[in-house]
Amino acid sequence: MTPGKSAARSAPVRTTGSALGPDHPSHRLVDSPYLRACRGERPSRVPVWFQRQAGRSLPEYRSLRREGSILDTIADPELSAEITMQPVRRYGVDAAILYSDIVVPLQAIGFGVDVVPGVGPVIDRPFETEADLDRLRPVEPDVDLAHVEATVRILVDELDVPLIGFAGAPFTLASYLVEGRPSRTYGRTKALMLDNPGLWHRLMDRLADLSVASIRSQVLAGASALQLFDSWAGALSPRDYAEFVLPHSRRIFNELSPLGVPMAHFGVGTGELLSMFAEAGATVVGIDWRIPLDEARRRTGGQVTLQGNLDPAVCLASWPTVARRVRRILQDNDGHPGHVFNLGHGVLPETDPDILRRVVELVHQEGPASNGD
Ligand code: CP3
Repeated sequence: MTPGKSAARSAPVRTTGSALGPDHPSHRLVDSPYLRACRGERPSRVPVWFQRQAGRSLPEYRSLRREGSILDTIADPELSAEITMQPVRRYGVDAAILYSDIVVPLQAIGFGVDVVPGVGPVIDRPFETEADLDRLRPVEPDVDLAHVEATVRILVDELDVPLIGFAGAPFTLASYLVEGRPSRTYGRTKALMLDNPGLWHRLMDRLADLSVASIRSQVLAGASALQLFDSWAGALSPRDYAEFVLPHSRRIFNELSPLGVPMAHFGVGTGELLSMFAEAGATVVGIDWRIPLDEARRRTGGQVTLQGNLDPAVCLASWPTVARRVRRILQDNDGHPGHVFNLGHGVLPETDPDILRRVVELVHQEGPASNGD
């Protein structure tokens, strides 16, 4: 229970659950491999979980999932808790990720959003002008997100691994609000950002408040770690990221850090942004497969835990190929205690669940990393 004892570095967060009551699950799970690796302490084995581990790749998910919007499924705490647990049972992963979605807080404040199967988030009336800020009222989690808190409470009674709470980061949420749907270019988003920086920062401020409030409520309800998904921030140049996004990410982590739980920060294609991803205040940085772990460690300054970074598409290849790539990632990590094995983005729906089960088994067998500190 003495965080930091075996650590070769001092991460910003060295305690677990400092602001949380004595009954919070993070205390009971303080020595779990996932939480130890997040704190940079040597875990008993290399922990592994998969982004989008719950969902369409699992037949048991497809059979539970109702027709219609995923948001209706998320609104049912019993069902959402069961879906969260499905991959934990099947794969033996070291952490659970709450079954919810980044657009849930937007829906909860009545912004008018749905998630269309095969498409993604679609907005009824996209964000365009100053007047649209009024449609982004503060969220009251105990009222607006009571169903999410209820899901978390069911889960933490049943799980024996840490639960990760999450929210979308302001840039990624803004990209949906402004474009109205998934985009390849983020053209409208960037045009608004560059032409009207005042409005942009006010929009980002509102969205940052939404991220903080929803994540905090999940942690207070029992989540032991958090992840901020800035999935699409990699679309920005480092200069634009520094000016238009970083201040907001930094505020989010500042406001969440008193909770004392590990704080992960993930985006796709963020190789050129990684130093800022760490600088924003995260204690864990999630990376995609485009740069190797050793290079990512250099770019993040060696102070944070790294999460990643198997290409999800590799999991569609044959097992010997997958196994080779898994081993290569462990080699790139070179025995560093601060590594959480993961995919570089979400599980692809066509993935054979048995491949993922074998990945978990292999990562567990190969760890704890062989060559010491
Ligand atoms: O195991 C898990 O990760 C489940 C929880 C989860 C979901 N969405 C459920 C979901 C999480 C952590 C998310 C985050 C999320 N949602 C992100 C950030 C992570 C990332 O992938 O970059 C983003 C960008 C979204 C928005 C979103 N929601 C998209 C792009 C889609 C896919 C649309 C499609 O059908 O291809 C969704 C839908 C969604 N959210 C599904 C799941 C399991 C699949 C659709 C379904 O079951 O209807």
